[in-house]
Amino acid sequence: MNSNAKKLADFPGIIHFLRVHLAHLRLRDFRNYARLDVDFAPGFHLLLGDNAQGKTNILEAVYLMATLRSFRGVGGAQMIRHGQKGYFVGGNVIGQGEHEIKMYWSARERNLSLDGQPVKKLTDYLGALRTVVFCTEDLQLVKGTARARRRFLDLLLAQTQPGYLPLLQRYMHSVRARNALLKQRTTDEAALESFSAELVKLGNEIIRARRELVPKFSPLARLAYRRISNDAEELRIEYQPSVKNDFAVELAQSRAREKTFRSTLVGPHRDDLQLLLNEKSAAQFGSEGQKRTLAIALKMAQAEFLAGIHGSPPILLIDDVMGELDVKRRSGFLPLLEQARKTNGQVFMTCTEENWPSELGHDLQRWEVVRGTLVASK
Ligand SMILES: Nc1ncnc2c1ncn2[C@@H]1O[C@H](COP(=O)(O)OP(=O)(O)OP(=O)(O)O)[C@@H](O)[C@H]1O
Ligand SMILES: [Mg+2]
Repeated sequence: MNSNAKKLADFPGIIHFLRVHLAHLRLRDFRNYARLDVDFAPGFHLLLGDNAQGKTNILEAVYLMATLRSFRGVGGAQMIRHGQKGYFVGGNVIGQGEHEIKMYWSARERNLSLDGQPVKKLTDYLGALRTVVFCTEDLQLVKGTARARRRFLDLLLAQTQPGYLPLLQRYMHSVRARNALLKQRTTDEAALESFSAELVKLGNEIIRARRELVPKFSPLARLAYRRISNDAEELRIEYQPSVKNDFAVELAQSRAREKTFRSTLVGPHRDDLQLLLNEKSAAQFGSEGQKRTLAIALKMAQAEFLAGIHGSPPILLIDDVMGELDVKRRSGFLPLLEQARKTNGQVFMTCTEENWPSELGHDLQRWEVVRGTLVASK
């Protein structure tokens, strides 16, 4: 075992490592970037700059290429540079092979291509670039509604099981169709019956996928939490399905309540994840610091989980996280980043001059971000 592999013994599940990195990023009329063409080496990149210069916008663009969504939860229109018609985001990803991603978005036209070919099926596209983002909104994983936690689970499954996203889309489609029926003045019972059968069939597959995932994911999160918090408390994650035993039976039993609420009340679209610190709900009893640590631990575990399954660490996009942690927790988080880097990962981290982690040492690329430009600095 070489020394690099030895250190990686801490990373459960990783046997060999493939370096995947974003080698080039090209932006046109994206947020405050009129034009940007920049090459990135593998390794650690620090994006430094004052507020409102465009640091987070870079991370948003990279995440967008990976997931086709903004981690800020906004639609395409908001990302078009003011006064322009559409944005372009493109990049070259180097891993086992090289991939070229191009996306253009305007109110009228949407194009996504991979290696020069238009993308027809999302499942063909989504593995080209994998990222995990750390941002202030992550706190919603702990403090927010169940929806945030379901999205987290779903993203994790979509990033690791090719069939999951289409399955979820079909399930959500049948939930909506069924809800539309329930909202009609007189319900078409025969139609409802057939939607219910579809719902149960798809829903059971989702439940199975989530039920299998959580026990695999939970130990990684527990370990990450322990490391960041220096063993302060024990994290446990429990899957809380809306369906307790039999979806079909419970759906039938909910008919009376459905009549009142006019929507589908049981099923995986109502699932949750319980986050427990020393067996107490983190949302209800955790301190702000504990909640932040927990949110970061979930993301760290997501990265490790992806690395374990795909044999290459995802690109980490870390937005404004250092400022949120006290010195002790910061010193627990940094070794995780250090490790990510040593496993051949690529990391992009935004910081203002005041809070950049000088502890990280010098083996990193610094970039100055000023009003929509990026300049390499040493
Ligand atoms: N659609 C858009 N068109 C043009 N400019 C935009 C658009 N959306 C955001 N901006 C500009 O982008 C800048 C914000 O960029 P960003 O969020 O990346 O800042 P930041 O460097 O991360 O700052 P902070 O340190 O405050 O987080 C602001 O100047 C904002 O006005
Ligand atoms: Mg920012």
